[in-house]
Amino acid sequence: MRCSGKAGTRRWAAGLRRAALVGAVLGGSLTAPRAEPLRPLTVVGDTIPQSLTGEPGDPQRGRPVVTSRELGNCLLCHRMPLPEERFQGDLGPDLTGVAGRLSAAQIRLRIVDESRLNPATIMPPYYRVDGLRRVLAAYRDAPVLTAEQVEDAVALLSTFR
Ligand code: HEC
Repeated sequence: MRCSGKAGTRRWAAGLRRAALVGAVLGGSLTAPRAEPLRPLTVVGDTIPQSLTGEPGDPQRGRPVVTSRELGNCLLCHRMPLPEERFQGDLGPDLTGVAGRLSAAQIRLRIVDESRLNPATIMPPYYRVDGLRRVLAAYRDAPVLTAEQVEDAVALLSTFR
């Protein structure tokens, strides 16, 4: 189909808005598997003691979660002991040795939602859906990472001693 001229562009934009609305109304069911409902979690002090999946994560699978721009994009702000990764940021603390300072349960809460510890943090919440502003409709009902991806990232960071 070819759209030409302003009217075409307007029709196209309206169609896009409708599609976004339908997506929002359907609760993101079009975007599965990202749209699985959040699993219940319990915060204890500055930790989430239990695995979100009930299983331990896999550090190998955690690697693309933390390095990928589409997933965690953690290297935008953090250094990690992954020398092959060329671009590593310094907006957040260097995560080399993080497992020596923080337990897996503490790391889990920081990835799930750092703003529970520091409301002014620039670190995005990776496993929260409420209170998100300025996000695309398709992402509004889904956390950035799945429960499995959070656990895989926790497992990888727990090897950074
Ligand atoms: C936009 C920048 C940004 C991104 C992206 C980001 N973080 Fe952070 N992170 C921070 C900052 C800043 C802090 C310092 C604590 C604070 O701000 O409350 C932090 C703190 C942490 C801590 C606690 C470190 C410590 O020594 O106390 C962990 C663990 C962590 N981040 C892991 C991650 C992981 C894993 C990802 C990707 C899934 C990630 N971060 C993505 C900015 C970021």
